[in-house]
Amino acid sequence: MAKLRTVFNCTECGAPHYKWGGKCDSCGAWNSLVEELENPDQDASLAAGMALIPAGEAQLIGTLDPSLGIPQLTGIDELDRVLGGGLVPGSVTLLGGEPGIGKSTLLLQLLAAWPQRTLYVTAEESAQQVRLRAERLGALKDDLWLLSEMSMVNIFKAIDRVKPQLLVIDSIQAVADPQLGSAPGSVVQVRGCAHRFVQEAKYRNLPTILVGHVTKEGGLAGPRVLEHVVDTVLSFEGERHHALRLMRAVKHRFGSTNELGLFEMTEHGLKGVPDASKMFLADRRSGVAGSVVVPTLEGQRPLLVEVQALTNPTGNNVPPRRSAQGLDPGRLAMLLAVLERRAHISFASHEVYASVVGGVRLAEPGGDLGLCMALVSATTNNPIAEDLVVCGEVGLGGEIRQVGQMSRRLAEAARLGFTRAIIPASSESIHNGLRLQGANTLNEALSLANLRTTP
Ligand code: TYD
Ligand code: MG
Repeated sequence: MAKLRTVFNCTECGAPHYKWGGKCDSCGAWNSLVEELENPDQDASLAAGMALIPAGEAQLIGTLDPSLGIPQLTGIDELDRVLGGGLVPGSVTLLGGEPGIGKSTLLLQLLAAWPQRTLYVTAEESAQQVRLRAERLGALKDDLWLLSEMSMVNIFKAIDRVKPQLLVIDSIQAVADPQLGSAPGSVVQVRGCAHRFVQEAKYRNLPTILVGHVTKEGGLAGPRVLEHVVDTVLSFEGERHHALRLMRAVKHRFGSTNELGLFEMTEHGLKGVPDASKMFLADRRSGVAGSVVVPTLEGQRPLLVEVQALTNPTGNNVPPRRSAQGLDPGRLAMLLAVLERRAHISFASHEVYASVVGGVRLAEPGGDLGLCMALVSATTNNPIAEDLVVCGEVGLGGEIRQVGQMSRRLAEAARLGFTRAIIPASSESIHNGLRLQGANTLNEALSLANLRTTP
């Protein structure tokens, strides 16, 4: 038998290292190296899989049947939106997310909605547990097959027997191939097993979804190890204390990675949120200082979100606290500096709390002006008009800069009953029923919103 060597694999990206270090040379992650055995036979399992697949032949590109690559709608609208029309036959999708975010719930709903025979392999729960959940979700369906199994050998036997048209493996970190030797969840196992599922998916033209837990501690090999092996990587996010779940494509071989899917976790599983703006604004209170509505874009999807700020004077000399939720703390610091230098509004002796309501992240610069206004409104205790939306990037000189796709953003605001918008003066003229007010500078914008009297 060949001699086994120790290797230190990065649980973030999978890169091997021959000596231990605190940082991965390849992806720069800290404390992500774990010791595993490098097994010279580890390719044996892959080779065994390869042997089943007929040799490929070169074909003329024009002779290929284009209908084979057409995606099939999943029946879950928000998922279809992110995938750009559904699952492509033979494709492998990795659904990544933190434990408890709702991956198993979503996939069970997907299997129940799929029109053909499906197989759900759970390596983490008993079949009984899954059945109980399926009952709660209304996902009991004739052609849904369940297998509670961790061993690759038995999983492949079941695929052979059941011949599903859609396969879900929950999760890739919990299944193991005995031929590979290492523990389940190790880089060697996760990568080796995923390769086998990819081979099988292509060979059978079977759309396959792998669940991948994301762990911050790096105890398990994370989805990044698999990113290049699979066709599509979906990330399922959300804050544990909010019902809202966001789905994005991080990688997608068959379409754009721009689309955002929105779900709400309810007692009967995940429900799509087609009208997200309405949901985000549902709890808004009028006449409260420090609140403003910003029309933002998530991919191609316009969203109205409420940005809130609260400031509080601090008595002592310690640097006052700054907190940003759903916003970039660096951006908040920059805007506080711009407000101080260009608009002469100082927050030096104030604690500042800024947040985006509803668990969304406002990562684009189009939210700058809204955040500035929320801050000024909070510190002057001067509420912003209820029917107003604000959008624009703020430069270091205090100038208001254009943002992309203004007309789509404003159309969404008009749809939800807003009547006025403060936008960059340089935006091209748009007619959509809103009263538009252009501002060149932060000071002009603050005057337009009645947050200061002299420009
Ligand atoms: P789950 O799908 O098990 O998460 P994951 O597979 O990503 O680890 O979902 C777990 C959480 O979702 C759990 O805390 C309970 C909640 N949940 C609901 O709120 N409603 C439901 O109908 C279901 C099935 C779960
Ligand atoms: Mg699960």
